[in-house]
Amino acid sequence: MPDARHLIGMLLGTEEDWPQAFETLVARVGPIKDASGTTHTLTTERITMEPFDLRDKPRYDLVVDRLAYWYYLPREWLKKVALMDDVYLLNSPFTFQSMEKHAAYCAMLRLGIKVPQTVLVPPKNPPDNARFAYTAAKYNQPFDLDEIAQGIGYPLFMKPYDGGQWIGVSRIKDSAELHRAYDESGQRLMHLQASVEGFDVFARSLSIGAETMIMHFRPEQPMHDRYAVDHDFLTPELGDEVTTISRLINAFFRWEFNSCETLVRGTEAHPIDYANASPDVALTSLHYYFPWAMSALLKWCAFCVVSDRTPRLDLDTRTYFEIGDREDLTYEEKLAGYRALADDYFEVDRYRDFVDSRLAHVDELVLDWITSADFDRLLLETVRSTYPPHEHERFVGHFRGLVGQWVRERGAAATWQPAP
Ligand SMILES: Nc1ncnc2c1ncn2[C@@H]1O[C@H](COP(=O)(O)OP(=O)(O)O)[C@@H](O)[C@H]1O
Ligand SMILES: [Mg+2]
Repeated sequence: MPDARHLIGMLLGTEEDWPQAFETLVARVGPIKDASGTTHTLTTERITMEPFDLRDKPRYDLVVDRLAYWYYLPREWLKKVALMDDVYLLNSPFTFQSMEKHAAYCAMLRLGIKVPQTVLVPPKNPPDNARFAYTAAKYNQPFDLDEIAQGIGYPLFMKPYDGGQWIGVSRIKDSAELHRAYDESGQRLMHLQASVEGFDVFARSLSIGAETMIMHFRPEQPMHDRYAVDHDFLTPELGDEVTTISRLINAFFRWEFNSCETLVRGTEAHPIDYANASPDVALTSLHYYFPWAMSALLKWCAFCVVSDRTPRLDLDTRTYFEIGDREDLTYEEKLAGYRALADDYFEVDRYRDFVDSRLAHVDELVLDWITSADFDRLLLETVRSTYPPHEHERFVGHFRGLVGQWVRERGAAATWQPAP
């Protein structure tokens, strides 16, 4: 069998930390032999923007996209390479429409997931469309915002139906705050959502392909302290439930690189935010979990290109709804059914087997690199480009400490010198 080469493209915006980490690890992973004896070599390349003929043949087997949610040219190029050339995408732009929280809420509600009560209200200010006034006068029903809010109960959250990064999100205690927030929302379409009050844990799960890491998130902390290093903050049952919900959402919408936020109160898991076209994987946010994320990304990309996993653009909603619509099944039984479908979509068993048999050296390789001077250089560069000079020393120490903990837990020594 001739050897196979696979080029992994990266569509990047402003990020430097994880792309450099990923490029380094792909360069170090070496040839991968598949079951038939063919040797596969992986390389990476940063994709640049240029005109393209719709009949051009792309050189990439897989693209990790961090740009197309915001810009049309890369988005339309991704659609072309997905539709015409079977390039494997993390994530597919065809899923962007459902990247609004709203679509995910709707799907998950139908599947019986415990999404808090959510009402979509018309925008406060009219859109810029000359015909709107006529149409609105004829067809828009007057409504009582206070009555809707009372029906949900205070406190509640008002947030954009398609939001991200906490922009336009407010916690509302009374009618005065409700009206202030609504006035400020302008032309944005907003949800009113029941607040999950007094939750015990905010779980943020980052999923890359068949892998999910559930992290204890503390939204009230500054960015660098939001992910706590904490291993047993959920019972095994709840951990499994959050993994299932994350994998279900991802499989349902074909998201392969996504994060999901779940508020856990008592024994109940309420997902509130689970559609991220470009989930946070910054070294300065993930710190301790950064090596895991890079290793999962490397493994999943290698699995997709080497085992020639078929990209799936089409949704398979009916198979999920057939479970969700059944009245004879309990919540737990439904979750088990979804888990089987989601595991099947992500080929969890075949992936595990591939990692064990073909990528057995990757964990050691990641550990070697994380303890190398090259990684420390990246850490220093990242801190210097993220924080003002007077905070460099403090943050270098902070992140070395957290990544060092990951290293020490793997039985190696983290021996970094103080920042020069
Ligand atoms: N229903 C809710 N109950 C409790 N807290 C919520 C709820 N919805 C949002 N929040 C809080 O507001 C933050 C931002 O809301 P979220 O839905 O995650 O929007 P974004 O997409 O902007 O991150 C959450 O991280 C959480 O702290
Ligand atoms: Mg959020």
